[in-house]
Amino acid sequence: MALYFYFLLTLLAIASAFSTKPNFVFVLVDDWGYADVSFRNPAIHSPNFEKLAKEGLILDRHYVFKYCSPSRASFLTGRWPHHAHQWNPPEDALVGANLKMTMIPAKLKLARYKTHMIGKWHEGLYKEAYLPINRGFDTMSGFLGGGENHMNQQVGCATDFWKNDGPDSRNGSYDAYTYRDDLTDIITNHNPSDPFFLYLPLHNVHTPLQAPDEWLNIYPANSTCQNRRIYQAMVSVADNVTGHLVKLLQDNGMWDNTLLVISADNGGAPCGGSNYPLKGSKGTFYEGGVRSLAFVNGGLLPTNRKGKSTQGFIHIADWYTTFCQLAGIDHDDSGSGKFPVDGMNVWPIINGENEKTLHEQIPLGYDFDYGNLRPNQGALIVGNNKLIVGPQDTKSCDSIMYSPLDYPCTDGPKGDDCDPYCLYDIVQDPNERHNLAKEQPDVLKDLLARYNKYSEEPRDLQDQGYHSIEALPTDSDACRYMRENGGYWRPWK
Ligand SMILES: *[C@@H]1O[C@H](CO)[C@@H](O)[C@H](O)[C@H]1NC(C)=O
Ligand SMILES: *[C@@H]1O[C@H](CO)[C@@H](O)[C@H](O)[C@H]1NC(C)=O
Ligand SMILES: *[C@@H]1O[C@H](CO)[C@@H](O)[C@H](O)[C@H]1NC(C)=O
Repeated sequence: MALYFYFLLTLLAIASAFSTKPNFVFVLVDDWGYADVSFRNPAIHSPNFEKLAKEGLILDRHYVFKYCSPSRASFLTGRWPHHAHQWNPPEDALVGANLKMTMIPAKLKLARYKTHMIGKWHEGLYKEAYLPINRGFDTMSGFLGGGENHMNQQVGCATDFWKNDGPDSRNGSYDAYTYRDDLTDIITNHNPSDPFFLYLPLHNVHTPLQAPDEWLNIYPANSTCQNRRIYQAMVSVADNVTGHLVKLLQDNGMWDNTLLVISADNGGAPCGGSNYPLKGSKGTFYEGGVRSLAFVNGGLLPTNRKGKSTQGFIHIADWYTTFCQLAGIDHDDSGSGKFPVDGMNVWPIINGENEKTLHEQIPLGYDFDYGNLRPNQGALIVGNNKLIVGPQDTKSCDSIMYSPLDYPCTDGPKGDDCDPYCLYDIVQDPNERHNLAKEQPDVLKDLLARYNKYSEEPRDLQDQGYHSIEALPTDSDACRYMRENGGYWRPWK
C-alpha cells in the first residue's frame, strides 16, 4: 500500500512537471460600479458573478485608472497608466498605444499560448499596426473604438464592428449576444492541451444605456430612475455572458487549469452605476473611480483561498507580470522609447503566501489629463495614505460624491474637490471623509515629493500633445474615408 502510494506520488510529480501551462481568462466589465453586483446590492440580478466571487477570492483593493482606455493600456502593457498613456480617444483620433511596448498576448505567444480577444479595443485604430491582431492576438472580434450603440454598432459616421483583419458584417444585434456566440466558437474549437489566453473586455455596462427586453423586464419599472433600471439589466447581461463563459471552460475541460480574473475598468459612471459606499465615480481619483470591483476564480485558485476576500493592494498593471511568471516567461520589456514594466507578480497575494502590499507606491495617474483641460491632476498611494492632486470632476451628475446603494439618479451633495490636495488614510477611512492634508503636513509633504518625482521622467509624445474626449465630427477626413470604404470604422492612414 505504502509503495503504491509512493508510486502514485511520483507519477503526480512527473505529471505536474510536464503539465500544460495555466490558462488565463481576463474579463473586463466596462464602467461597472463597486456596488453593482448582487453580493453588494441584492437589487441586482447577477447569480453567476455572485457564485464566482463568493466561491472565489474577492480582490477588495484592486486599483485601476479613473477611466477606460488607460486602464486597458495598463493591463495590456503592464505599465502604470501614465507610463502607458492617459488619453481616451474618439474613433477618428490619430493615436494608439505605444507600438514599442510588447502587449501581454504577444508575450504569452512566446510560451506558445493561443491568444484571443472578444469585445472592446480602444487602443488605437488609425493604422493597421494598432489592430489587436498586430499586437499579439491570434483572433479578435468586437469593436475598435471606445463606445457605440449596443444594438446597431453605429458610432459617429460609421459602424464599428470588426473581426481579425476586416469588418464584421454581423452588426445589427445586441453586441453582448454576438460576443456570447464568439465565446462558444473560440472555446469549443480550442484544443485544451494548448495554453489559452482570452481577453474579454465587454462593452456592457458602458453607455449608451441599452438592454434587451428579456433582461429589462426582470426589473421593476421606475419612472424617476429609468437609467438605473437599464443599467441593472446591462449588468445582468454581463453576468449571463460570464456564466456562459465559465460553462464553456468547464465543458471543454479547461476550467481546472484556468485563472479567471474579473474586474471593472473603472468605477461606475454617474447617473447609472453605484459605487456605494465609496466616494465619487468614474472620472475621479476618489476610491469610487479607481478601486474596482474585482475577483478571481478558476481551478488555479488554491482551495484554501476560496470563499475569501483579500485587502492586498493590486494594480491592474500587475497582471502582466503575474501572467508572464505563471507562464514561465520573463516579463521584462525594457528598451528605448518606452518605460519598463511597472507591474509586479501578485500571485503571493492571490495564493495567500504574502498579502502585504508589494509596491512601495502606486501612482494612479499623473498630470496628463489634458483631455479635460485640468492641469496637474493625479493620485498616488503610499502605504495606507492616498494623495489626490487637483480638483476632481464636478460635472452635473458627477457631483454626487456619495451615491446611494441604488437609484443613484438624483443630484447629491458635493464633496471637497481636492484643490489643491486631498490626503486620505484609505484603510482607516475607506470612504474618504476626512481630508488630512492640513492635519498631517509631513505626510502630505512626503507624498507630494514622491508625486512630483514623476515630473522628471521623459514623457510619451502622444500624451503631451493629444487632447481627448472631443465630440466626434461627422465630416472629418476619417469619416469621408469610412463612407467611401464600406461604412465600417477601419484603419485609414
Ligand atoms: C425609484 O427611484 C427612486 C429614486 O429616483 C427611489 O427612491 C425609489 O425607491 C425607486 N422605486 C423602486 C420601486 O425601486
Ligand atoms: C443566459 O441567458 C439565456 C437566455 O438568454 C439562458 O438560456 C441561459 O441559461 C443563461 N446562461 C447563464 C449561464 O446564465
Ligand atoms: C452594418 O453596417 C453597414 C456599414 O455601416 C451598414 O451598411 C449595414 O446596413 C449594417 N447592417 C445592419 C443590419 O445594421
